[in-house]
Amino acid sequence: MRDLAALDLLIRLRKDIEKMNAIDIRNKFLNYFKSKGHTIIPSAPLIPENDPSVLFTTAGMHPLVPYLLGEKHPAGTRLADYQKCLRTVDIDEVGDNRHLTFFEMLGNWSLGDYFKEQSINYSIEFLTKELNIPMEKLSVTCFAGDNDAPRDEETASIWQSVGMPKERIYYFGKDDNWWIAGDEGPCGPDTEIFYDTGKEPCGPHCDPSCGCGKYVEIWNNVFMEYYKSKDGTYTKLKQQNVDTGLGLERINMLLQGKETPFDTEIFKPMMDKLKELSKNDNLQSRRIVAEHLRSSMMIIADGGKPSNIDRGYILRRLIRRMIRHLNKLEIDLNYLQDLIELNFQILGEMYPELIQNKENIINTIIEEKNKFVKTLENGQRELQKELNKLRENNIDTLSAETAFKLYETYGFPPEVTNEIAKESNFKVDLDGFDKLFKEHQEKSRLGSEQKFKGGLADQTEETIAYHTATHLLHKALQIVLGEHATQKGSNITQERLRFDFAHPQKVTKEELDEVERIVNEQIKRDLKVTCEEMSYDEAVKSGAMGLFTNKYGDRVKVYTIGDFSKEICGGPHVEHTGVLGTFKIKKEEASSAGVRRIKAVLIK
Ligand code: SER
Repeated sequence: MRDLAALDLLIRLRKDIEKMNAIDIRNKFLNYFKSKGHTIIPSAPLIPENDPSVLFTTAGMHPLVPYLLGEKHPAGTRLADYQKCLRTVDIDEVGDNRHLTFFEMLGNWSLGDYFKEQSINYSIEFLTKELNIPMEKLSVTCFAGDNDAPRDEETASIWQSVGMPKERIYYFGKDDNWWIAGDEGPCGPDTEIFYDTGKEPCGPHCDPSCGCGKYVEIWNNVFMEYYKSKDGTYTKLKQQNVDTGLGLERINMLLQGKETPFDTEIFKPMMDKLKELSKNDNLQSRRIVAEHLRSSMMIIADGGKPSNIDRGYILRRLIRRMIRHLNKLEIDLNYLQDLIELNFQILGEMYPELIQNKENIINTIIEEKNKFVKTLENGQRELQKELNKLRENNIDTLSAETAFKLYETYGFPPEVTNEIAKESNFKVDLDGFDKLFKEHQEKSRLGSEQKFKGGLADQTEETIAYHTATHLLHKALQIVLGEHATQKGSNITQERLRFDFAHPQKVTKEELDEVERIVNEQIKRDLKVTCEEMSYDEAVKSGAMGLFTNKYGDRVKVYTIGDFSKEICGGPHVEHTGVLGTFKIKKEEASSAGVRRIKAVLIK
């Protein structure tokens, strides 16, 4: 009888493993670390809050940097989370069997709490006991040591103590076993855990560093006890931290015995649907569409909007590249909305923010598609003409200037130009393109700063009052419409204010009334307006709003209006909101795609 019960349990366990998917793995992870005294914290948005230094959150440690440096985290010293991440360096590689732009990283954190031993014990217990991965499938790497930090023999011996045989413990240098985000910041040696797929070794020296696909990295435990300064020197941090990252799509794929993430439940239904709709199937294009659609939807859910600069430009590129590949697949673009809806079904449980932002996501993607489609055909024709010219002259590279012209005139992102050129065996001077693009952005930025300056040069009592009212309006819009309603432009005269802000649809009468009511309430409260000077970093840390895509100098002024608003701004402002009179919205209209415009007056 007992044997039967054991068999039954085994069968149930097997079934459990078989049907385990990404969301189960995520839950198992969070529950496991919760049982080890970790507080579960929510994923930070993909678009970092108040951090203009990076476009997107690229690793779980981003939102935690202040705490790794020693600031006290309100949730304690042991944390675990899942973090939405986006990395765009490999955008051109998407379409192969492994690259993704958006991915989820599971992480556990010690902020000056446990260190190497505990961290390795947790990882190995989770992998072998919770996910039931046999120890024989795993191997690990440790830091080999250099002038900056010693060889990490301590970590290697901890691995041995938990049963990892010496032959499967490898040492590598900084390129493989040291982790830092960018050039400066908290960092340290790491130990990486690899899963052996069982494939044949690629040669006698096949090991986890060779990248042939036999070994797949699944978990990275970083022992962050150093700080690397801009000048390249390393100092010890106040505390020893652990930062770990376990790639969810990857572990999910391995546990399901699949070759690529596109074969798992995260992408499979979309891949199948694309196949069904396609009249000219090719796997690479289907992967690009499935991947870029998911990433675009995630970015929009976190407040992203297509534009020609920074984050918006990445989103624009993802959507446009996806459109081109839908065309390549000969899928009617009228199906795009169905595909978006399908992703709500596939991903809605994992990311409820998708469902909460349904309308906005659909509208934004469809609008961007419509814009691109208008110029796509003409742009392709123009590009073919240019390629023909090159062919006649025996030149194999399309110039940066031509690529830039295609971008400016037809909205062609460089990778779209590059892909089309590549199909006819031409190269594109992409470095040159980047240079031109940066120069162009710099020019338009200077232009808009000039305009901004002009707008505020007129400092009469009226314009100063409108300026303060603009801050109240900005905050009120964020309260009523959501945090995505950020400033896109402002223009003040003695007679009125005009304020542009991000919002995907018309603001309703009720919403406008509520905005008006909130602003007038703050005026009635006669809030004190104060100004402080501080470094830009301090300002963003203090939670001040600002135009984060623009460059500020090192020291900035922060204007605080009572307990209501805090914004980086040059001023000047009134001293008390009571002097503003009555705030009245006169008009609400579209300004450009995804941007609304409000005109309002103050009645004394
Ligand atoms: N920061 C490390 C990584 O991104 C571990 O989370 O791999």
